[in-house]
Amino acid sequence: MRRLLITGASSGIGRAFAIHVGRETDRRLVLAGRSETRLEDVASRCACPVETFIGDLDDPVVARRLVAFAEERLGRLDGLVNVAGNAEYGPYDELPWSSVEGQIAINLLAPMATTHAALPAMLARGSGRILNVLSIAAVHPFPFAGPYVAAKAGLLAFSRSLNAEVRKRGVRVQCVLPGATDSPLWDGGDHPPREKMLTCRAVAETMRDALDAPDDRALDEIVLMPPEGIL
Ligand SMILES: NC(=O)c1ccc[n+]([C@@H]2O[C@H](COP(=O)([O-])OP(=O)(O)OC[C@H]3O[C@@H](n4cnc5c(N)ncnc54)[C@H](OP(=O)(O)O)[C@@H]3O)[C@@H](O)[C@H]2O)c1
Repeated sequence: MRRLLITGASSGIGRAFAIHVGRETDRRLVLAGRSETRLEDVASRCACPVETFIGDLDDPVVARRLVAFAEERLGRLDGLVNVAGNAEYGPYDELPWSSVEGQIAINLLAPMATTHAALPAMLARGSGRILNVLSIAAVHPFPFAGPYVAAKAGLLAFSRSLNAEVRKRGVRVQCVLPGATDSPLWDGGDHPPREKMLTCRAVAETMRDALDAPDDRALDEIVLMPPEGIL
């Protein structure tokens, strides 16, 4: 998988993944995020050619524009890596509706929108991989995280359905479900001990292994946990 579009590349897991795969000079990357400064910093740490795209993926029109940009700049898209996400915790009755909609938009609808835009060319070519970063929350419904849990569980169901639909046509949909990972996602709120969490680097390495696995095996879903499990 040499030509990749990575969303959420400006921070945390996406940043670590972009830097990890970007050290290989024969890759070509399109990195997406909202923060231009942070995205440019990530691009400067890559040894391979990199293009950046600034945009808010809450808007599915922007998601479609991002995929068109990546296909045009890369010539073709071998891999779509959906990492962008956001979590806002709290009692459901106290969460503003804008938070509920926002979490569904970025964690579920955005990856569905980039996939909808990228799939036709992959199917026409008969190759391509879509790697979705979910969360252990997709299968372990934590309290005070309803919209996040719903979005991740929804994306898992969608990924399984689509994988069954397209895998015999050369396209694979893969999921990585990490447990607690030490990233800026946890800044500013209560959180488990950060030193017990997974590192972004560990998640990035696992994502790369999944994406670059040989064609003779299909790594459909990977659950990756901190050594102590749920923290
Ligand atoms: N940290 C964990 O414990 C953990 C565990 C399991 C799964 N995950 C999942 O891993 C993924 C990455 O999370 P992280 O921990 O690396 O968090 P992070 O450091 O906060 O990074 C989130 C990334 O998503 C991007 N993003 C957020 N909202 C966006 C929007 N509306 N439009 C475009 N981009 C947007 C951010 O871009 P900007 O910064 O440029 O705005 C940033 O690049 C998420 O899907 C998260 O659910 C995290």
